[in-house]
Amino acid sequence: MGWRFVLKAVDPPGPTGAANGRINARFFRSDVFTFLSNLTQVYGDIVRFDIGHTACVLVNGASAVDRLLHTCEPFLHKPDFVSASNRGHWGDGLTTLEGADWQDRRRLLRPQFRPREITPRLDIVAECTADMIRNWRAEPPVDLMTDIRLLTARIAARTVMDVDIEGWGNPDGCTSLLPYDEIFGEDFTASEPNDADGILRMERPRAPRDLPVITDLIKRRLDSDCDGRDVLSVLIRTCRAAGVPPDYDMITGEIVQMLYAGHLTMPTSLGALWSCLAQDAQTEQQIAEEADRLEVGTAPPALPELGRSLALAALKEALRMHPPAPLLYRIAAQAFELEGFAVTAGHHVWVSPRLLHRDPRYFEDPDQFQPARFEFGRPQNVPRSVYLPFGAGPRTCIAMHQAFNQMTLIILMVAQHFELRSSAGSLAHVTLIARGGSP
Ligand code: HEM
Repeated sequence: MGWRFVLKAVDPPGPTGAANGRINARFFRSDVFTFLSNLTQVYGDIVRFDIGHTACVLVNGASAVDRLLHTCEPFLHKPDFVSASNRGHWGDGLTTLEGADWQDRRRLLRPQFRPREITPRLDIVAECTADMIRNWRAEPPVDLMTDIRLLTARIAARTVMDVDIEGWGNPDGCTSLLPYDEIFGEDFTASEPNDADGILRMERPRAPRDLPVITDLIKRRLDSDCDGRDVLSVLIRTCRAAGVPPDYDMITGEIVQMLYAGHLTMPTSLGALWSCLAQDAQTEQQIAEEADRLEVGTAPPALPELGRSLALAALKEALRMHPPAPLLYRIAAQAFELEGFAVTAGHHVWVSPRLLHRDPRYFEDPDQFQPARFEFGRPQNVPRSVYLPFGAGPRTCIAMHQAFNQMTLIILMVAQHFELRSSAGSLAHVTLIARGGSP
């Protein structure tokens, strides 16, 4: 028998222990990304540190992140505060399930996000966006983010349940209107139960505790033939076809998560793009010309045209600079080895898209807004799992292609009607100036 060398994994380097935990918490609170960036400068791409009393590992760098999010995903699960923020008052959905339950659900839902399903939903996006633009031309937006959140909510209501929101008409075949409160929701902060220092928190909109109209609609749909193309109807039909009787709790948990999944991410992404464009008049003008060329006022362009558009390249670049999910959180469900380092069961494991997206090893002039980086769809010569505004690996956002296409259409339609002006680099200072003509 020959010699076998067994390399023992060692603990990652980094500032641990009670005193460091207190100091780290202070830096974390004051500027989280400077803090994380400093950790990698001092200790390398895999760093073990404490935040207050919470044991954390930061995983950075192309190969370690790729291995973590692709190969090691079975050893990880989502922390409670992340699940609670997604679940809110309601049950589990794809974002909060783990293990075999998650796998089965992902398989069940994946067909909902194929191009064949995404394409007809673009008509809904075009219709809702045209309504918003018509209102803006009559009265410019006072709070851009609120209007975009309402647009996101309306698109979700129409595509997920085939219903509209009170005050927005009653499309054919739709017998109910969702009250504004049920679909706009409430802002929610979830905290990590074991984090005595109250540092690990997730803030996002969620569904309120009372959803009488939404739940009634789900019950009625469960009692019907369900021949619609909306996510709810297709989900019920898919369950029946697979011989799995659709269960009210399962359907409600999933549908409520779907209704709310875009409420923070879509407005934040569009806000990031408009802030960048307000500082780049040339790209803004080119996108307006592209909108005219693609005749977005008449009908949504086909998916390949949206896919090749400058508007999408600019959006991807804005999401590189300002990813809406700047930190991805996991907990090690069991001990595992990563690039020679030991990750201990129970430790929080973090990946930061924000750090990776601004890393000069992968992006030249990382602080410059350069849509040309995405001229060919993907950034050139950048390893997999470095650009990850929608996550990476098996738990990537299931709605990524749909969200990219919907946002690109909104950007083009808005560009056709409005110019952006900004006195500073933030969305709070962006103003929309109407171009000539009517919507
Ligand atoms: C700009 C828009 C969006 C962004 C940036 C975004 C981002 C993300 C990210 C980063 C993740 C992975 C989280 C992690 O790894 O911890 C994720 C997961 C997910 N997203 Fe999105 N998302 C967006 C829109 C949406 C929309 C509109 C929906 C629903 C229709 C949606 C549904 C989901 C679901 C169900 C998951 C969980 C996937 C799984 O665990 O298998 N997302 N999203």
